[in-house]
Amino acid sequence: MGPPEGQLARNQINMPLLDFSTHAFGLDIGDRSIKAVELRLSRFSIGKPRLTMHAWNEIPIPEGMFSPGKIERPAEAAALLRSVVQTATPKPIRPRAVVLSLPESTTFVKTIEIPRVPREQVALAIARESEEHIPLPLAEAILDWQLLVPLEQDKTIRAIVAAAPRALVENFVTTLEDTGLIVLAVEAEALSLVRGLLLEDLLPGDNAIGILDLGATRSNIIIFDEGTIQLSTSIRFSGDTVTKMIAERLNISWEDAEKIKIECGLEPERCENRIRPIIATILSDLVSDIRTALNAYRQSKTDGHPVGLLYITGGSANATMIDTFLRQKLHLKVHRANPLRGFLTPASFPAERAASFTTAIGLARRATRYLPVETEGALSLS
Ligand SMILES: Nc1ncnc2c1ncn2[C@@H]1O[C@H](COP(=O)(O)OP(=O)(O)OP(=O)(O)O)[C@@H](O)[C@H]1O
Ligand SMILES: [Mg+2]
Repeated sequence: MGPPEGQLARNQINMPLLDFSTHAFGLDIGDRSIKAVELRLSRFSIGKPRLTMHAWNEIPIPEGMFSPGKIERPAEAAALLRSVVQTATPKPIRPRAVVLSLPESTTFVKTIEIPRVPREQVALAIARESEEHIPLPLAEAILDWQLLVPLEQDKTIRAIVAAAPRALVENFVTTLEDTGLIVLAVEAEALSLVRGLLLEDLLPGDNAIGILDLGATRSNIIIFDEGTIQLSTSIRFSGDTVTKMIAERLNISWEDAEKIKIECGLEPERCENRIRPIIATILSDLVSDIRTALNAYRQSKTDGHPVGLLYITGGSANATMIDTFLRQKLHLKVHRANPLRGFLTPASFPAERAASFTTAIGLARRATRYLPVETEGALSLS
């Protein structure tokens, strides 16, 4: 039950529209680029609150600024983060509070199942089980978990567990704070992706869904089943490998190879059919890793549902015809992810490559949960 009407109205009048700390935005720190998205919830005089994308940005990360697990040049990183906020389109990002994701390669997410223990022992039992799976000592990790089924309802404990290197999280939080930002939450990218696609809204379904995140330096597959992430694992594919191979085969520069890759994609009619075979060769490892992940899931969870649909996301998912190519090879429904459902975007937003922004949008969606709803009208600053 919500608050009494009088209270709701009073809250709205007292809403601190001038206090930017009550707004927040999403920040996706990848290996090659940083992406920021600010969504705002507005209440018009009639109807439900609506989401609007207020600002977005994407900035390349200079070589060597981050290494896996560490910010190598903190002062430059802080300057870069400041410019992400200040040079956003169509206007600078004003909120100071941020919801952040860590690169998939540095985090761990998995659903675990262990025998039931008394409530007071749950945390310890989950930590012990997680230690078996996470690739770093528990003392060096930040561990977070959530029960998927109420404790009393099952003979086993089912929980989703996320872990990240403590030093890395602290590194990012300190650097962001140095730029004047406040970190509201840090999450593993798998969770942001799932929220970006609104899969969280699906009730425990009859089908499992795969999400393939095809990035610049690495790729990942997530299996989402029974309303949660069941597993998240890396697979062999990177956009950089494709660019590198095109550059080598055609004896051209990295920059030209990148342009040709984007222009030709997997269309056989384009570029004298010289690019498709190169990309296809690289995709064969990807296809085999996807099959391995799907089989591993089937074997590890015999009561799990078959994966009937694969969403592709991340920058490399924008490649033309990659969806058709994967559909033919995997005999699965493959769709390019559309994270733009349910809100308006500014005219400047590159909707044709929306798949690049799924993580940032998922983070921005979480950021709006911390916010009061804005009232459109005379008081609004937007
Ligand atoms: N239209 C396109 N066709 C093919 N590849 C594309 C296209 N647009 C972007 N890419 C590729 O997508 C990759 C960038 O993807 P993304 O923005 O998801 O990476 P990132 O988040 O910076 O890094 P990572 O996810 O690896 O940490 C680059 O390799 C780029 O060449
Ligand atoms: Mg990324």
